[in-house]
Amino acid sequence: MEYKSAKILSHGLNHTAEPDKYLLSGSVLLYCNVEKMEEKKKLLFVCLGNICRSPAAQAVMQQIVDADAGLRFVELDSAGTYGGHSGDLPDPRMRMHASRRGYELTHRSRQIKSSDFECFDMILAMDDRNYDDLHALAPDPESERKIYRMTDFCRRLSVDHIPDPYYGGSSGFEQVLDILEDACTGLADFLKNGPRR
Ligand code: 4NP
Repeated sequence: MEYKSAKILSHGLNHTAEPDKYLLSGSVLLYCNVEKMEEKKKLLFVCLGNICRSPAAQAVMQQIVDADAGLRFVELDSAGTYGGHSGDLPDPRMRMHASRRGYELTHRSRQIKSSDFECFDMILAMDDRNYDDLHALAPDPESERKIYRMTDFCRRLSVDHIPDPYYGGSSGFEQVLDILEDACTGLADFLKNGPRR
């Protein structure tokens, strides 16, 4: 990739980038030659078990990415802070509610690992516990700057976390999807256009 100039930003949250000319990479904003732009932006969604909220976030965001050529530089994965469900498909209740809205959840649960903090550009926590656990696991300050709250990207709903639906009923799974659809729309806008002015 060829860079014409580079500017350090705090979380990349104060720029007014022109889409297609700028690429956010961690805390660095890179002005790049679009023709030669091959660099991916990698996002990791994180919850506790990686069988309900974060695989749903991955599927909702993947559908948005697949439908938008302006987001072809985005790659997605998800993980849990707890490894007890490693290898499992998402919870059948989450899959059923997601399927009704057109999302197929096929991710296999995995626990977050230290190399994820290096490999991913943004690490998105579903709730405060995930957010605090991720900060405790982050190996250095640069890694900590990659951690975001998923609900910070909500545009329509006024919420500060995505409630854990695991021990609740159907409405909890619907609420997860409602919040994720709003947050993923806002996240896509952030990736293409930078932070809201
Ligand atoms: P998630 O939900 O963090 O959204 O995947 C949970 C899944 C499993 C458990 C808790 C929450 N659990 O205790 O096993």
